[in-house]
Amino acid sequence: MPDGIGTDHQRIDGRAKVTGGARYASDVMLGNVAHAWLVTSAIARGHITGMDEAAARAVPGVLEVFSHRNMHGAVAETEFFAKGGYVGSTIRPLESDRIWHDGQIVAMVVADTLEAAREAAFRLQVEYREEQPAAGFDAAGVEVKAASEGGFEDPEVGDADRAYGNAEVKIEAEYSTPTQHHNPIELFTTTAHWVGGKLELHEGSQFVHGLKNGVAAQLGIDPADVHVVSPFVGGAFGSRGSLTQRTALVAEAARRLGRPVKLVPTRDQGFTIATYRAETRQKVKLAAGRDGKLQALVHEGWEVTSRPDPYKVGGTATTARIYACPNVRTKVNLVHADRNTPGFMRSPPELPYMFALESAMDELAVALNMDPVELRRVNDTQREPIKGLPYSSRNLVGCLDAGAKAFGWERRNPAPRSMRQGEWLVGWGMATSIYPTHIGAATARVTLLPSGHARVQTAAHDVGTGAYTAIGLAAAEGLGVSLDKVAVELGDSDLPPAPVAGGSNTTASVCNVVMKACDEIRARRAQGQQGAIEVYAENVPEGLPPEAIGKLYQGRNALGGGLEGGKQAMAAFGAIFVEVRVHERTREVRVPRAVGAFAAGRIVSPRQAHSQLTGGMIWGIGAALHETTEIDHRTARYMNDNLSEYLVPVNADIQQLDVIMLDERDSQANPLGIKGIGELGNVGTNAAVANAVFHATGTRPRHLPVRIEQLLG
Ligand code: MOS
Repeated sequence: MPDGIGTDHQRIDGRAKVTGGARYASDVMLGNVAHAWLVTSAIARGHITGMDEAAARAVPGVLEVFSHRNMHGAVAETEFFAKGGYVGSTIRPLESDRIWHDGQIVAMVVADTLEAAREAAFRLQVEYREEQPAAGFDAAGVEVKAASEGGFEDPEVGDADRAYGNAEVKIEAEYSTPTQHHNPIELFTTTAHWVGGKLELHEGSQFVHGLKNGVAAQLGIDPADVHVVSPFVGGAFGSRGSLTQRTALVAEAARRLGRPVKLVPTRDQGFTIATYRAETRQKVKLAAGRDGKLQALVHEGWEVTSRPDPYKVGGTATTARIYACPNVRTKVNLVHADRNTPGFMRSPPELPYMFALESAMDELAVALNMDPVELRRVNDTQREPIKGLPYSSRNLVGCLDAGAKAFGWERRNPAPRSMRQGEWLVGWGMATSIYPTHIGAATARVTLLPSGHARVQTAAHDVGTGAYTAIGLAAAEGLGVSLDKVAVELGDSDLPPAPVAGGSNTTASVCNVVMKACDEIRARRAQGQQGAIEVYAENVPEGLPPEAIGKLYQGRNALGGGLEGGKQAMAAFGAIFVEVRVHERTREVRVPRAVGAFAAGRIVSPRQAHSQLTGGMIWGIGAALHETTEIDHRTARYMNDNLSEYLVPVNADIQQLDVIMLDERDSQANPLGIKGIGELGNVGTNAAVANAVFHATGTRPRHLPVRIEQLLG
């Protein structure tokens, strides 16, 4: 089989990654580089009243102590990412003496050596006037606002409250999900270097054109004078999609000192200088007839955000549209607290909100005395219920069938506490997975040489997902050459722009535009053109305006598709089946096996897709049982801001895990029929685990992560 979409390959950047040949942002070697060290706030709310710099400045090698005293006015205010701007937080750290959250940058010390910068940072004396902070839900002083005030549309249809009141079978429950931090292995480093009035930035990024234009706006310079280099990214998960405020500070320091400046923040600083997944509380009401058909769905959410920024998770946009239901009411509320601004984290809306919906569906199945798989089947639909848009393709039923079969679901005894093995209570649970299919405007340049070698250039991003390989396979197919003849260049703002590596859009957006360029090359060859052929292509997907290309060049996010807009709803689906064992005395929870079956359009790069879905399900198990950022509610500070106390699943936690990828041809979503899979795998798995824990124990876990103490009594 010739190389192309759907053929199995190792990732083409794999060798460079395992041999150290892949250079990450802070690996860049620059002459005369100065080193920066951050000083972060010890309080969460209040003001800086004094700063004694003498001891810090006395450390040999210290070049400058940057603080609000000398940085005020240096970084311009820019628009919030979710409002079409660049920054993930509008809090400008060195702008004034104001403290908005714990761990806010209050100073940046730059020195000849890393050691001197660090020592000076520890010697800097900062005095504060502290006010009582509000850490989140239930704290005095939070401000609760409807997300609709900021333009969020709460999906609604019919009269859910009346239908709920009249229904035969109903459940109502409250759920909560915790703060999570991305913790990519690569720290939030930035290296800035000015050459002849032009700024070169080395920083791991999910959006190099956004970074370029955003920093230019912050520093008041021409975007053409900014070059962002980010060929490899050591994990992102949403944390590098929008700009953090550190970048402009490092760039400004380098400009003033006339030297390159490198910042490598610590792991704990990463918890407060970047974004995180906001904690949520949710209330779900479901009502159905005896046949299991939903008659009412009410989903309300409350989400923590910072004082100034209306970041919304907004997962009701998905949960309102997944099942056939004539009466739906939803509402999202933002709870403004003294916290850093949260942001996108792998399946931002779906991971927390589908946990609540899919847990509630399990509760409804119990109330109906109906098999939970059957309940999903009964409520399957080829049209989303809010506007009645047809799904471009939807094979949830195929996922339910394939997953149930592989798992052996028919052997399940539905009664809770009915299955056991020795001292372990055995529980089997399941849930639906969904992720909206996004596609954005994209550009690419493809060159074919007479030797048969090809080059693909586009400023897309491989955040560890396998994008290099997927894009290479699309070009191999489009040009009829083998993958080893294709060189793929990504992650550089001098390349033609591609969308933010968010919303699982990269494969669909970029492969479609690369194929367009390849088609043009083939056409020119057929017309007799000789020699090297270079084609630049632009693609504006159906439903997006032609200006989308211009916005892309400005580094503004412009994704289309999904469930809400246009003439059709587009999403990938899955069904997750999980076995848990809960020790009858200690209540320790283990996950001996899990099966995920997914229908996600055309799979471009099967080996990497399999890895993405596997990793996603592992994340889902972590979301169910391990992950949470602990917050000291007296001080509004994070407590486990390190990798030893921030728990994630490790090898011993994951045993058997099977991923099934169904063949799905979608001729409507986009020309190549590609749906995203980067975020699909971790949706629903948390609910499947919790539902399995209920089946094992008879205790319904409604608050993540599920811990022993919830199951004790
Ligand atoms: Mo991803 S959380 O959509 O960057």
